[in-house]
Amino acid sequence: MPEPVLVRPMLFGSLFRRAPAPGGKVLVAFASQTGAAETIAWRTANALAGASLVKVAALGSLDTAEIAEAGTLLVVTSTYGAGEAPDSARAFERKQMAQPGAFKGLHYAVLARGDRKYDATFCGFGKSLDRWLAASKARRLSDVICVDGDDDTAAMTKWCELLTRLGATTSVEQLMPGPPQDWFLAERRLLNPGSAGGETWHIALTPREPAHLNWTAGDIAEIWPRNSEAAVEEFLATHNLNGELSFRWRGYWTFLRDIIAHSRLPRSHEVEGIALDWLVERLEGFPPREYSIASLPQSGCMELLVRKAVRDDGSLGLGSGWLTQVAPVGGVIKLRLRPNPNFHPPRDGAQILIGAGTGMAGLRAHLQHRQAKKLGDAWLLFGERGEKTDLYYCDDIKGWQADGTLTKTNLVFSRDASPRRYVQNLVTEQGDEVRRWIEGGASILVCGGLQMAAGVQDALVAIVGQEKLDQMTQDGLYRRDIY
Ligand SMILES: Cc1cc2nc3c(=O)[nH]c(=O)nc-3n(C[C@H](O)[C@H](O)[C@H](O)COP(=O)(O)OP(=O)(O)OC[C@H]3O[C@@H](n4cnc5c(N)ncnc54)[C@H](O)[C@@H]3O)c2cc1C
Ligand SMILES: Cc1cc2nc3c(=O)[nH]c(=O)nc-3n(C[C@H](O)[C@H](O)[C@H](O)COP(=O)(O)O)c2cc1C
Repeated sequence: MPEPVLVRPMLFGSLFRRAPAPGGKVLVAFASQTGAAETIAWRTANALAGASLVKVAALGSLDTAEIAEAGTLLVVTSTYGAGEAPDSARAFERKQMAQPGAFKGLHYAVLARGDRKYDATFCGFGKSLDRWLAASKARRLSDVICVDGDDDTAAMTKWCELLTRLGATTSVEQLMPGPPQDWFLAERRLLNPGSAGGETWHIALTPREPAHLNWTAGDIAEIWPRNSEAAVEEFLATHNLNGELSFRWRGYWTFLRDIIAHSRLPRSHEVEGIALDWLVERLEGFPPREYSIASLPQSGCMELLVRKAVRDDGSLGLGSGWLTQVAPVGGVIKLRLRPNPNFHPPRDGAQILIGAGTGMAGLRAHLQHRQAKKLGDAWLLFGERGEKTDLYYCDDIKGWQADGTLTKTNLVFSRDASPRRYVQNLVTEQGDEVRRWIEGGASILVCGGLQMAAGVQDALVAIVGQEKLDQMTQDGLYRRDIY
């Protein structure tokens, strides 16, 4: 691990507006769907704890009076849907942000996480929040800081500089997620041969360090795709490059062979006649891909359920292609665990688990959790294409039914019925029973694709109403892992 780089306050110049003196009250509010923004919020709070009185809270749990009371508000948020708030802040966006608050005297800054591939809605919610706070007469400490994914060192440096001005002693490395770890691809198995849909693979990974077998149901694995070894060696040989040279890359000293392995391979004209330092600087590193973890650490390995993405030209999706086809069994997979508190098990009690396709991954980890705790009272509603080809983990389902983990199971297979039926149709058809479970205090977990999740949400709103669903979200009883 490299030495942390401490940022020196005098470097900031005019980037920031006048900051309040350190030592005041700081409220760190987060709105996060899959845990990244929440992790930064906690690191932010820890960094400031020595200098100020710091409180951390989910943005969605705050009202305008609590915000107005804080001397300084630091918001760390992500953006979902098309420029919308994460689930936990949707009601806040609809209700509190509908009109300006009265925040005269409040200083604030917004760190907005997003993904540039969403283009027009890049960091959309963070930007709306920033505008709302400004319209509410709060004073900006910095322009909104937009962070594109986990490796945006430039943006995180700005956040680090702001925190240092507020009295924190921290470094960019301390604020950013650590490097990925080495895991091994232990097993790869096609689960749906003959399916009308894409191939779905069961992937099992074991860690180099046994201590890394440590996560909670609902957490996410970030996987670094890479080029095949053969492609890397061919590239190095073609351009007569020494793979053993090392360069500082993404904050760490790294061998050229590994840098090339984790980057889009440049075309010949992008390499020839170019100084090596400059080539390395210009390489486009592959971003990580996220996968819901489908097992618990007690099983001794991490299991994933991965749909192989195939593009129109026949080439494979970067992450899913790496895991399901390119990576050699026994080979190293670079992986980082991301805690995802927003999808951790809700309080014990009855539970409705809803999903489709690879959404079974997240639901399976939760069902294993419930099985281990002998919680019972769970209802699975799940949809896939064909019963004969796509009912993955059928033996697990039978086992959960047999030992009482699952008290009710409804499965739907879209290609086996005409007209096609999906899991959201199941939810609607079972509306009365769903309402009874919810009125009895059941929590709801939804895992899988965005379109399915939107359909399920519409069905739930029709059954219990938006207010009830907002309340369940706030109480942590309606949780989604969606993509
Ligand atoms: C919180 C979360 C949890 C997730 N959990 C799971 C899970 O459990 N299982 C799972 O399978 N997935 C899961 N995903 C999705 C996963 O992260 C990836 O998005 C998915 O595997 C596709 O990525 P890829 O790199 O294989 O494909 P990419 O390379 O990103 O390509 C995906 C698609 O984009 C299009 N595309 C991209 N580039 C091009 C191009 N150059 N030309 C033409 N078309 C292009 C194609 O349609 C292609 O099929 C999850 C995502 C999130 C955010
Ligand atoms: C389904 C989905 C929709 C998203 N929509 C947007 C978007 O509209 N704009 C954006 O900038 N980022 C978007 N993102 C990217 C997330 O904001 C980004 O991955 C962020 O780092 C997640 O942080 P979190 O884990 O705290 O929720 C989206 C991600 C997903 C999975």
